[in-house]
Amino acid sequence: MEMTTRIRKAAPGDLPKIVEMELDGENSPFVNSDSLEKHTTWYEDDSFVHLAIDFSGKLTGYVLLVLDPDGKSVELRRIVVMLKGRGIGQDSLNLIDDYCRNKLARKSIWLDVLPTNHRAKHIYEKHGYEFIREGEHNGQPLHFYSKPI
Ligand SMILES: CC(C)(COP(=O)(O)OP(=O)(O)OC[C@H]1O[C@@H](n2cnc3c(N)ncnc32)[C@H](O)[C@@H]1OP(=O)(O)O)[C@@H](O)C(=O)NCCC(=O)NCCS
Repeated sequence: MEMTTRIRKAAPGDLPKIVEMELDGENSPFVNSDSLEKHTTWYEDDSFVHLAIDFSGKLTGYVLLVLDPDGKSVELRRIVVMLKGRGIGQDSLNLIDDYCRNKLARKSIWLDVLPTNHRAKHIYEKHGYEFIREGEHNGQPLHFYSKPI
């Protein structure tokens, strides 16, 4: 089996696994979680894109993108990789750039991250995301980053 990371538009049948992944104890400190009903509503909404991350042909993570109404930017709202530390997250960031540029015709990607999420901040900075500003949500500090694609 080839050890390759691929991303594809998620299928409806991937959503229960996506909900499970975001509830996993290694991910829940870093990403918000929502119900299957909520994800299904988003899935049916054209401004949301669920991407499946497959590694060696197996669903290993997911990405939630939100298309901004300006027609130019995309929010990378959530990314989770279950098999951590093997480069799958960084491969995914490259594939997300391609997807947003070629399939969604967007010019930039932005995201926010908890200041304490050093692993995520490391890969964003390594892959060309620039710190834009500090913010907060519900009293929680956040760091905003963006990247032209
Ligand atoms: C963040 C996440 C998507 C990264 O995916 P991954 O496949 O584990 O990442 P990779 O293996 O591609 O790369 C990890 C990098 O972080 C580095 N790293 C690991 N722990 C680190 C830490 N505590 N501080 C700084 N860097 C760290 C590794 O050295 C590696 O960098 P390198 O290749 O330059 O050596 C994944 O770990 C994850 O799902 N985490 C939980 C959910 C999450 O935080 N999502 C992002 C929310 S904004």
